[in-house]
Amino acid sequence: MAETYDVVIIGGGPGGYNCAIRAGQLGLKVACIESRGTLGGTCLNVGCIPSKALLHASELFATAQNDFAGMGIKTGKLELDLDQMMAQKTEAVNGLTKGIEFLFKKNKVDYVKGRGKILGKGKVEVTGEDGKTQTLDTKNIVIATGSEPANLPGIEIDEERVVTNTGALSMTSVPKRLILIGAGVIGLEMGSVWARLGSEVTVVEYLDRIMPGADNEIAKEAQKVLKKQGLNFRLGMKVTGVEKLKSKLKLSMEPASGGETEVLDADAVIVAIGRKPYTEGLGLESVGVTTDKRGVVQVTDGHFKAADGVWAVGDCIHGPMLAHKAEDDGVAVAELIAGKAGHVDYNLVPSVVYTKPEMAWVGKTEEQLKEEGVEYVKGKFPFMANSRARTNHETEGFVKILADKKTDRILGAHMIGVGVGEMIAELCVAMEFGAASEDIARTSHAHPTMSEAVRQAAMAVEGWTMQM
Ligand code: FAD
Ligand code: NAI
Repeated sequence: MAETYDVVIIGGGPGGYNCAIRAGQLGLKVACIESRGTLGGTCLNVGCIPSKALLHASELFATAQNDFAGMGIKTGKLELDLDQMMAQKTEAVNGLTKGIEFLFKKNKVDYVKGRGKILGKGKVEVTGEDGKTQTLDTKNIVIATGSEPANLPGIEIDEERVVTNTGALSMTSVPKRLILIGAGVIGLEMGSVWARLGSEVTVVEYLDRIMPGADNEIAKEAQKVLKKQGLNFRLGMKVTGVEKLKSKLKLSMEPASGGETEVLDADAVIVAIGRKPYTEGLGLESVGVTTDKRGVVQVTDGHFKAADGVWAVGDCIHGPMLAHKAEDDGVAVAELIAGKAGHVDYNLVPSVVYTKPEMAWVGKTEEQLKEEGVEYVKGKFPFMANSRARTNHETEGFVKILADKKTDRILGAHMIGVGVGEMIAELCVAMEFGAASEDIARTSHAHPTMSEAVRQAAMAVEGWTMQM
């Protein structure tokens, strides 16, 4: 008889693979089932990694085109080699997904290729690509099946002209007219990539603002900056359908509050209106796991327990749909199964949007604090007044720190500027340690660096402003 596993994980994305590796390190007998053919999930295959590879390459292209001359650098005529740009993206993806296979071997994780289905308590069936099935016995099951793109009625995705993130990351030519539905993270990141490579980009958003999860001031500044880069925003518009003609696409939309239909022509449309948990055909009912009406797997808050002997992590449960959150969930569950403490504070999960400039935040927004009736002090510092930003000609944006009015404890930090995706880590650490804004204001920061703006924003909270 086959040996019983301590843990069988369904899904090999950041939630699943980190859970598997940590479980292996803790000496548990573990298997991870993945149906995609490669490990790494959405993030490595069609999400974080390929998008950042294209964001980086397209940013270099745009910088060479727009900024080199002003820096005293002359080039010949720049040309885009899209095939090579896509090839270097694929190389980054392949290297990283193979790296996880290596880590599985190193940590004695059994990688089971195929589709997992829960048959009942402690039993998971795996159907391989050849249709053959096997059943794994296990003490614990971890659901780490992630999420899939949401779609709208009246839109048929073909991943060629009307695409989700998957098609948006693999286009074979630069569409002349590109429409993004949704001014969220994918809309802004993918819109930036294709605008830099030459597309005329229109972003259609249902709400009357972009980036609904972000602090209002950050979203407003981002909209202003991205507009200058050629992103055309149509806010407060509801898309009603996309008609596919041979020569073009016709996108119909009307004001969200009702009114006349408007039609926009496009060569490609990217649908980026959010994602929904993916639990199709998983046999949840066989173990009494429930989902809400959006398909989110219900867990005991903070404990990742979906049913007796069943745990769930990552995009398929509550909390932000982010790779590092999924990773932290996965590690916490492995530790809980091994009898240790495992905990994730979702309030301290940072968000980063990898546009140029980047946006980054952690903790509460001003709007949330107002809604919760929390009294706070705000300190803000613009990169225009930061010497490194000035030498680099990268002066757009600011850092904003929100601290409790009575205790000075940092409640939130919101930034827009070049490199803030790295700078936010300082605030995450500070907030994990329950720091006061004064702690950052009194901490030495190297000069001249962009991160001095963080210190200056903290100093502004204390009223020691150094602004010109
Ligand atoms: P997933 O990564 O979705 O992994 C789940 C895996 O389970 C998949 O590989 C799937 O094939 C497999 N699976 C599902 N059902 C079964 C089954 N029955 N049997 C076997 N296998 C199964 N997050 C960030 O933090 N930073 C970013 O920069 C970022 N960029 C993104 C860019 C894009 C375009 C997208 C779409 C997402 C991005 N994300 C980013 C979000 C990030 O990708 C997800 O939050 C993360 O992948 C969630 O991890 P997960 O393990 O929960 O799920
Ligand atoms: P999103 O939730 O970030 O944004 C979706 C946007 O679409 C919102 O602004 C929403 O108001 C709008 N919308 C919803 N319905 C609409 C409709 N019918 N018509 C027009 N607009 C509509 O979702 P997105 O961009 O699809 O990304 C999915 C998730 O992937 C993100 O929430 C994030 O968790 C993750 N992600 C993270 C990245 C990062 O960390 N840098 C990068 C890309 C994705």
